[in-house]
Amino acid sequence: MTQRFLNLASARRTIYALGKNVNVPQADLESIIGDALKFAPSAFNNQSVRAALLFNKRHDELWDIVADCLGPKLAGADARQKFFAKVAAFKAAYGTALFFTDGAVVKEFEELYPAYAAHFHDWAEQAQGNANYAVWLALHDNGIGASLQHYNPAIDEAVRRAFAVPASWILRAQMPFGSVEAAAGDKSFIAPGERCMIFS
Ligand SMILES: Cc1cc2nc3c(=O)[nH]c(=O)nc-3n(C[C@H](O)[C@H](O)[C@H](O)COP(=O)(O)O)c2cc1C
Repeated sequence: MTQRFLNLASARRTIYALGKNVNVPQADLESIIGDALKFAPSAFNNQSVRAALLFNKRHDELWDIVADCLGPKLAGADARQKFFAKVAAFKAAYGTALFFTDGAVVKEFEELYPAYAAHFHDWAEQAQGNANYAVWLALHDNGIGASLQHYNPAIDEAVRRAFAVPASWILRAQMPFGSVEAAAGDKSFIAPGERCMIFS
């Protein structure tokens, strides 16, 4: 029995304190993330997940969009202050991966396989999870921390305008990544027996 994967999986965490002290060259990050996406499974291998990698000013632009789209909607100075502090922490990261589902692929497969049409929406979401997790693990394996955020759909139109992604791409998640500036807190787990029944 090997523990290699489980060691990696147990050490991957949500890291909120992210910074720009990244020694991995940008080209390597592009290929790490690109390959993690490439090898993550999807229903019928339809590869419905898309991504946009934001670095430098384009990364800053995303978090300015989040602040502009959501900040004014928050009621109360306290909530606003907490929100802007969170957004500033995400902006302090090195880059952001935006994850999308290509709705055109989902539609194409609904039409190609009518017997399974009702499933392709859910399967695209499951493929998102696979892709999010694969990228998160691959970044962690290279010493890069990340978290997974969901400011969609409030930012969808502004993101589409700023980054000119194809009209069929639907924003599903935002993953800021960078150097790990502070470790994650403790994490609790429910008892294994509550999650997994064994029959033998
Ligand atoms: C589908 C999904 C959605 C999540 N959405 C958010 C989010 O919007 N904001 C956030 O800060 N964390 C989000 N998380 C991170 C979880 O809160 C986190 O993974 C969980 O608490 C376990 O902690 P860990 O990542 O350190 O193992 C999300 C995780 C998953 C899998």
